[in-house]
Order: sequence, then C-alpha cells, then structure tokens
Amino acid sequence: MSQQYAYDVLVIGSGAAGLTLALTLPEHLSVAVLSKGELANGSTYWAQGGVAAVLDERDSVDAHVQDTLIAGDGLCQEDAVRFTVSNSREAIEWLIQQGVPFTRDENVHSGFHDFHLTREGGHSHRRIIHAADATGAAIFRTLLMRAQERSNIHLLEHKVAVDLITENKLGMAGNRCLGAYILDRQTGKVDTYCASAVVLATGGASKAYLYTSNPDGASGDGIAMAWRAGCRVANLEFNQFHPTCLYHPKAKSFLITEAVRGEGGVLKLANGERFMQRHDERAELAPRDIVARAIDHEMKRLGLDCVYLDISHKPADFIQSHFPTIYERCLSFGIDITREPIPVVPAAHYTCGGVMVDNCGHTDVPGLYALGETSFTGLHGANRMASNSLLECFVYARAAAADIVRLLPSAPEQVELPFWDASQVTDSDEDVIIAHNWDELRRSMWDYVGIVRTSKRLQRAQHRVDMLLAEIDEFYSNYKVSRDLIELRNLAQVAELIIQCAMQRKESRGLHYTLDYPAQAAHSQDTILYPPQYLAHDH
Ligand code: FAD
Ligand code: SIN
Repeated sequence: MSQQYAYDVLVIGSGAAGLTLALTLPEHLSVAVLSKGELANGSTYWAQGGVAAVLDERDSVDAHVQDTLIAGDGLCQEDAVRFTVSNSREAIEWLIQQGVPFTRDENVHSGFHDFHLTREGGHSHRRIIHAADATGAAIFRTLLMRAQERSNIHLLEHKVAVDLITENKLGMAGNRCLGAYILDRQTGKVDTYCASAVVLATGGASKAYLYTSNPDGASGDGIAMAWRAGCRVANLEFNQFHPTCLYHPKAKSFLITEAVRGEGGVLKLANGERFMQRHDERAELAPRDIVARAIDHEMKRLGLDCVYLDISHKPADFIQSHFPTIYERCLSFGIDITREPIPVVPAAHYTCGGVMVDNCGHTDVPGLYALGETSFTGLHGANRMASNSLLECFVYARAAAADIVRLLPSAPEQVELPFWDASQVTDSDEDVIIAHNWDELRRSMWDYVGIVRTSKRLQRAQHRVDMLLAEIDEFYSNYKVSRDLIELRNLAQVAELIIQCAMQRKESRGLHYTLDYPAQAAHSQDTILYPPQYLAHDH
C-alpha cells in the first residue's frame, strides 16, 4: 500500500547542496532529505580538488570575479558571479564551523589561518581550499554527521523521486509545487510526499555521455522533473569535459584532479613531448575546455587512445601527501605516479546549464527551488571555472534556506494529494530495452554531441533521441517504474534539451565548439528553453 508523508521542506538530493540547505534551515521545520541510492551517492562525495574562495589576503573578490568571467567566455551573469564570490569566505567559515577537516600547512601563510590553498586552471591566485585530494568526501562526511545530529532532519535512502506534483498537473488554477511522487525501492511502491517547499538538489546530467567522471546517478532527474513541471532551463549545450580522467580498462570514472596540474603536472604524448604550449600560452593551466579540446585534437591527430599526465618530477613524499587518493588508486592499477606518467583521457564532468533560478535558488514554479549542479544561476556562463561548483552549492543553498524561512509562513496550507495511480501498469518482462536504450543514448551523445560538434551530428543525435523518447514513453506508460526506468526517461529528456540548446547556438563559445560556426558571434546570449506550462501561465 502506498503511503502519504508531509514535511515542511522536501529536499531531493543529499549532496553538498541538499545537506547545506537542510542544515541551514531552523530546527522547528521538519525536513526530509532524500537520496535515490545511498546518501553518499552523488558527485559531492567524489570531488577532489576543492572549493574556490577568496581567502588569501593577496587575493580579492574582484580578481575571483574577473577569472570567473574570463573562464565563462562572455556569458556569465556578473551579478550572480559577484554574489557567489562575495559570499565565498562566509560559506567556507560555515564549513569550518561544521568541522570540515581542510588541509593545513604551517609553512604556507595564506592569510586564512594556516590552511593550504592550491591552484587550478583559470585561477590567477591560489584560492582552492581542500582536504588533500578528497575534499568532497571530507565535506560530505562532516555535513552528514551534523545532519544526523538534528532531530528535525529525516535522511531517507533509496527513495527515487519520479515526478513533482503541481497544481497544474492536478487540474487546479496556478502552478505551485505541492510535493512529489517518490518510489520506495524497498517496497516497490510510489509514495506521496507533500511539502510547503520542494528543493531539487539532484546533481547534474553528465551520465548522458558514454565516458564520464560522474557517479551512476548523474542522470539529470531534477532538470527533467523541473522541465515537466513548467520551469525554464538554460545553457544546457555547455557540457564540461574534464581533461584528465584515468585511462585504464578497469578504472570506471576515476578523475585525476586539476590540482595535479596546479602543482606542476605536465601533459605529454607517449614519446614524452609536451603539447599544451602549442594550444595556449597558459599551457596546462588554461581553462579546462581548452585543455580538453587540445587533448582531443592530439588524440584524433595521432590516433591515440590517451595522453599522459606527468608529475613524477616532483619529490615522491610531496606527491604522496598532496594526492594520497590518486596515488593509491593508480597504484592499485599498477601505475606508480611518483615514477611514471598517468594515462588520461577527457570525460564528461559537469553540466553548466540547468533549471533557471534567481539568487535564492527559486525556480519559475512557486514553492520549487533548484540548487547545485541541477540549477542554472548564471555563475558559470559558457564554461565553469574549476572548484566554483561546490562554492555555488554552499552559497545558493544558504540563500535558499533564508528565502524558505521568509516565505514559508505565507505558503498555502497543504492539501491532500492523490495517490500514484499504478492500476494501468504491469511488471516489465523486457528490461533489456532499458539497458539497450541507456547504452544507445549515451553513445549517440558522445559521438554526436561531444567535445567537437557539427550541425549534421546534432541532427543525427536529435533523430535518435526522438526515437528513444517515443519508445521510453511507451514503456513508461505500460510498466511499473523502477530506478533504471526513471533515470533513462530523465536522461533521454535532458539529452533532448541539450541537443535543442546546442542547435540554437550558432557560434563556438566556451564549452560549445562546432565546426560549422567556429567563430564567436559578436552578440551572444543565454539559450533559454520554455516548456508549454510556462508559456500557458502569466509571468
Ligand atoms: P550531488 O552531490 O551530485 O548529489 C545529488 C543527490 O541527488 C544525490 O544524493 C542523489 O542520490 C540525489 N538524487 C538524484 N536524483 C534523484 C532522484 N530522482 N530521487 C532522489 N534523489 C535523487 N566541484 C568543485 O567545485 N570542486 C571539485 O574539486 C570538484 N571535483 C569533482 C570531482 C568529480 C569526480 C566530480 C564528478 C565532480 C567534481 N566537482 C567538483 C563537481 C561537484 O562535485 C558537483 O558539481 C557537486 O558536488 C554537485 O553537488 P550537488 O549537491 O548539486 O549534487
Ligand atoms: C578537479 O579536482 O579537477 C575537479 C575540480 C572541479 O571539477 O571543480
């Protein structure tokens, strides 16, 4: 039997954004934080490099803003950049208060206690605070511990959000978000969660690509759910490919942090020749779109399977203390990074576009917020600068919490919502369709909507995704939902939105590079997609 639950705030996602929001809300509010797998399921746990913030006395808000604007290649919204950067120090102080064990270095005088600050591509200063090379795990564990201490926060694992419940979908006037349908993976039933505020903190959609640094759940669920509920989405053509993921047949999705290049690592071909200086004067520390494209170019030019990242010229104890996780992981595959270069390839890493929000994380649908990688705040423009995304999670989650506290007293009373209707569906007898479509979708996106695009490739991708969407819709209407089916449906939806955005951009800029329009347009703007429900309501 399906259940009904009611909370003040329903947070879908237990990564940096979801946990920060939950912890910033006052204790008198009841808060549910859901994860579709284990709580550590999202990208946050895997973040390596760190969090960018203005902490060093030689650094400044203006310098961080300028670096972000340059990386964003003319499309950042300066007010969003300034808002984020101006709040960066406060966000880091909050994390330190929570107990995050950032790496200290008594020999380095950063002007911010004795924390070590590292450098990454595009940053003109050392401004990345980190916990060795496993910053995400340190942050996640600390925030989780704090959330477990709070009796008003209910942490719920293996609950998969299927769709949002809005007034519009129930045939009512208006389009407020009233809650969500949630698949309980233990019972197999879809339950109804009512809430006065609903927060999408479901991470990005890099799983749309065959090769990715992201964990399995990065299937764009929040973006697809928000789109279906009537939210505008923007700039989904800007898919960031991280230049350096470990290339090894048994290493699934293992990133080699940009901080390796920040600390002196160099990129080489198999014969030991360096090549980055031929592509950009900043060489290995150019923004990552440039580095990823340069690697892609060299690999295609020479027919290579990978290139190499070499930090073995640094002392072994320096490497082992700065990059203990990478050192151990590579060693487990027989690669000793203190003696030999690391084979690397680019892989899909970050979704710069997403659900359009304001400076409080509010979407177009009243009562619905989007945070972290799910959202589009205007911070990243056409290319995200390294380590700005965790910062965005903390700054916007804290702002959204304040907004929820402000608006909740005037929120309409919760109404009883209809149960999920499973009367027309049966158990699937052909799950092979899901596995097949999953592979086909991700391969088409990799081949046709990848690092280098053309109009023809985008048309091919659109054609295939349209066919997959029709098949998936039919499957969804006839069979019981499962996590795999929900993710496939969302991933195909987001793939279609990515292609639509890419087709609309008739220029090359930032992460979107097309051979048919290799130059930048003189005037450029965000690519905004409008769902039918948005157009049906006055805004
Ligand atoms: P996530 O941490 O991805 O969490 C998503 C949550 O949503 C999970 O709990 C998931 O279970 C849940 N969820 C998703 N769909 C559903 C659903 N349908 N129902 C219920 N729950 C759902 N950024 C930096 O700034 N610095 C770094 O050093 C850095 N390193 C990175 C390294 C790697 C390998 C990767 C993959 C990313 C890195 N990034 C880094 C990017 C950054 O980690 C992410 O952008 C950020 O962690 C996203 O946080 P989030 O809270 O938005 O989502
Ligand atoms: C990395 O450590 O290279 C990832 C940093 C990021 O994605 O911001």
